[in-house]
Amino acid sequence: MSFLKHIKPSIQKLEAYTVKSIPPSPDLIKLNQNENPFDLPDSLKREIVEEFILQPWNRYPDVFPAKLIEALSLYTNVPEESIIAANGSNELMYTILMTIVSKGTKVLIPTPTFFLYEKIVNVLEGTLISVPASNDLSFDVESIIATAKKEQPSLIILNSPNSPTGQMLSIAEVEKITSETEAIVLVDEAYIEFADMPTVLPLMQRYDRLIILRTFSKAFSLAGLRIGYLLAQPSVCAELLKPKIPFTVNNFSSAAAVKLMQKKELILERILYIKAQKEYLFNELNGMKGIKVFSSQTNFLIFQVKNDAKILFEKLLSENVLIRDVGSYPMLKNTLRVNAGTEIENRAFLAALKKHL
Ligand SMILES: Cc1ncc(COP(=O)(O)O)c(C=O)c1O
Repeated sequence: MSFLKHIKPSIQKLEAYTVKSIPPSPDLIKLNQNENPFDLPDSLKREIVEEFILQPWNRYPDVFPAKLIEALSLYTNVPEESIIAANGSNELMYTILMTIVSKGTKVLIPTPTFFLYEKIVNVLEGTLISVPASNDLSFDVESIIATAKKEQPSLIILNSPNSPTGQMLSIAEVEKITSETEAIVLVDEAYIEFADMPTVLPLMQRYDRLIILRTFSKAFSLAGLRIGYLLAQPSVCAELLKPKIPFTVNNFSSAAAVKLMQKKELILERILYIKAQKEYLFNELNGMKGIKVFSSQTNFLIFQVKNDAKILFEKLLSENVLIRDVGSYPMLKNTLRVNAGTEIENRAFLAALKKHL
């Protein structure tokens, strides 16, 4: 008898998450995971490591990281009881959905969007309700509300600004969705630091049905150390803490995140650089024949090509330029995604693209 007999059918149907893995090489221009192109300065890394050496490694960290939460509270101006930190925001997506979704629970997700939401809904055997974007890829707010009124989902997940489309909802739109429906509304703000529009944080005081998700993996250059956090009213946090895996924030990552929050100028300087580079990429792509580029409130852009995007993707890779083929997402046929890198990286990407278009 095969072990598969005991594996949940909902899991057997899934595929494991993979990112095209390319052997690390100093020549590789890596623009495929919306990462920050800048590592932390060497001096700052050393400072963090030296402080960490003084800490006991044989002891557990706090169940929930007190120093990090304190620093996040100062940084966000949100009370500590309204913050939960974790090993990346991906972990918190699982925590939030585990708290809300069981078999048949309806979850409304505008598409195309970040793949993980759908995957967790499927793991938990919830019922996915997809609402397609408008033709220009902007959120179809009226359709989201109308569908939510009809289907009565328990949860609506809004990735704003959205990956992979780069589109963003205004505060007024999120408020409309929240006030005109009865669902818990999760707003994933992974890319908020790059946006020209404001966070929905001011709505949190008014709605206990609103949860905001953030990450240190993008603007804060800390993807490798895995820190994410959520903001919600204390009574909501109290429920979310119940299924949460304890001890997932290790002392090292926590110390690094706390240090980074004290380096606001450095972070801001990098955000401005990345935004300027994204603008540069947008203008260049916009001027190329055969390319349709979409505006974006994030650190990345998507662009549609006339011919087979897969072939173009492979050609760029042969030039050591790694971007993302997002052609399998709904509405994104022959579409590629590129994140803003350093000026040198962006120029190399554009040169390779011009050569192979
Ligand atoms: C929409 C979205 N949310 C969250 C994340 C970040 O997750 P984490 O904080 O686990 O690195 C990403 C990264 O790709 C993302 O695109």
